[in-house]
Amino acid sequence: MVTDRRSDAALRAQVLELLDRHWDGDRGFCVPNPTTYPHLWLWDSCFHAVVWAHLGDERAVQELAAVLEGQLADGLVPHMRYGAIPPDAWLGPSPTTSSLAQPPMFGHAVKVLVAHGKTPPAETIAQAQRGLDWLWSSRRTELDLVYVVHPWEAGNDHSPRWDGWGAPGRTREDYDRAARAAWNKARMGDLTFHDDGAAAWSSTFVACPAGFNAYVAFNLAELADVLDDHVMAERAGRIAAAMDEHLWDAEQELWADLPLVGGGDRLVTTPISDGVMGALVTTDAGHADAALAQLAVPARFGAPFGPTNVARSHPAYDPGMYWRGAAWPHLSYLLWVALRRWQRRDDAAALARRTRDAALDSGWAEYWDPETGQGLGAVPQTWTGLAVAMTDGG
Ligand code: GLC
Repeated sequence: MVTDRRSDAALRAQVLELLDRHWDGDRGFCVPNPTTYPHLWLWDSCFHAVVWAHLGDERAVQELAAVLEGQLADGLVPHMRYGAIPPDAWLGPSPTTSSLAQPPMFGHAVKVLVAHGKTPPAETIAQAQRGLDWLWSSRRTELDLVYVVHPWEAGNDHSPRWDGWGAPGRTREDYDRAARAAWNKARMGDLTFHDDGAAAWSSTFVACPAGFNAYVAFNLAELADVLDDHVMAERAGRIAAAMDEHLWDAEQELWADLPLVGGGDRLVTTPISDGVMGALVTTDAGHADAALAQLAVPARFGAPFGPTNVARSHPAYDPGMYWRGAAWPHLSYLLWVALRRWQRRDDAAALARRTRDAALDSGWAEYWDPETGQGLGAVPQTWTGLAVAMTDGG
């Protein structure tokens, strides 16, 4: 019997097999990829929980709990919990977890799990709330924007938006991934830490990124929705309003990043798709429309297997390079959520189709060339199972 591997049923079966293969039953989470990424990563595991929920699998609850079990005493949810071997870089004083933040996608994960009848235990939800409280109280500026103290915290560690901090490589020709990785590792030496081990400040790198602010506000709003919590909802609204007031760049029609330490004295406006993520939370329809429209424009982020992560017309754009142009399935998922929030149903459906095709054809690659669909990075990578969530429709 010939089965259509592109059918919805076949897609679900393949994603279940992918997650099964990467599942660590003893520790209760999927590794993103057993060779390249043999640890727990915060937003990866939140996305895995979302995928498990769409598959109707109880491991959704276990994996979300595993993310939050790493929480430090005062509330930071670390971006990594270490697997059997130590990480390949010093990530702060804690022996079992990193000391860094990452986009706190657990608010969204809670909402998706509840919607799929996989309500997490009260303790998990309380930990998620504390994690967001910590970012609000320990990582917020007077402008109501949140900041990161290391590029790893933003989730997009080699982004061209960090080029102005003295990191090596600017254009496709002079960029060297290993040199940038070494530069990032060296930045760990610039950090100070709170008593519980959480990273507090950096002498060389502090920024309020558009993407990270959008993610914090989005996750506050998602959890507020589940809990009907007015305090969290108000915080989400304040960050979103601060983004519109202080980060909106009318020239690029994207949300930009605000440097606090290093990075120059003006907004960093390099056109990257993280600059569209404000559409997840803004109440400004003009901003949302102007940013979201660029996802389909060929000179910006529109590409056959896109959106690209860096505008195609920008000199840093490299469709094959990690965080410097390639298409990322988890970003496509978040952009799909944003498109649906603004009722751009056709655009969202087209993005879901493209992502599903590229996910299947690349063998579930970590990211891919948006021009050709060629799989790149770790193959297979668990978060690419998000294609199932986008096919399911919510
Ligand atoms: C890379 C990405 C980060 C991700 C991790 C595991 O470090 O930059 O966002 O969480 O890989 O997939």
